[in-house]
Amino acid sequence: MTATIEAISLSKRYGGRQALDELTFTAEPGDVIGLLGPNGAGKTTTIRLLTTILEPSGGSFTVAGIPGDQPHRIRQRIGVLPESAGYPERQTAAEYLRYMARLFGQDRRSARAAADRLLGDVGLGDRAGGRIASYSRGMRQRLGIARALVNEPSVVFLDEPTLGLDPAGQREILDLIGRLAADRGATVVLSTHLLAEVEQVCGRVLVLDRGTLRAAGSIDEVRAGSSLSDAFLRLTHD
Ligand SMILES: Nc1ncnc2c1ncn2[C@@H]1O[C@H](COP(=O)(O)OP(=O)(O)O)[C@@H](O)[C@H]1O
Ligand SMILES: [Mg+2]
Repeated sequence: MTATIEAISLSKRYGGRQALDELTFTAEPGDVIGLLGPNGAGKTTTIRLLTTILEPSGGSFTVAGIPGDQPHRIRQRIGVLPESAGYPERQTAAEYLRYMARLFGQDRRSARAAADRLLGDVGLGDRAGGRIASYSRGMRQRLGIARALVNEPSVVFLDEPTLGLDPAGQREILDLIGRLAADRGATVVLSTHLLAEVEQVCGRVLVLDRGTLRAAGSIDEVRAGSSLSDAFLRLTHD
């Protein structure tokens, strides 16, 4: 199977600070990969590099088979939920998604259909006509996931998608992410500092600490006989 993500010694420095140090991994269609690590581990940096928002200081990568030096092509094929997503508060969710679909080149009719379908998929069908200003944090995260799917991406990056949600809201988002990978055959990269999340949806985990990959593999491989939280504490610094 062809890799949907291939990162080779991917590195990023901010001034004197090595935020990411020679990260190497691959992902395939249908993979849900958990990017796990404490604050400052380099999770957001990894996502920003692979989504072409930042340029690497070293190493190389491909996403959806496209080399990292062709960001415009990569952007056509990916969906992103950034760490802190802003929304046009006065628009309705349906208006916002139709607009996004139009930006990706869909005509009016198919943009309308895509917005309706995606809002249904993320469980916002009955609130599609409500202004985003009235949305809770969980609803905004779902809208952000719908937005990330508008171009039918083959790779979806979600940066801390459950941040700030209560346990029920977290579970809903995780169920949604699991379905997304299964139904669409998309690769999902999900960053989190919460172990329960990776245990629930991720087939594979990358454990980062201070920019360095400390472990990679299935949850059982990373756990190596102990609990995932013991392994996490052993592999990271806080
Ligand atoms: N724009 C930036 N300028 C300087 N340092 C940064 C910048 N963004 C992140 N960093 C640093 O890079 C490291 C990794 O950050 P980040 O990728 O945001 O980690 P995480 O998402 O895992 O919390 C941290 O030490 C952070 O302070
Ligand atoms: Mg982050």
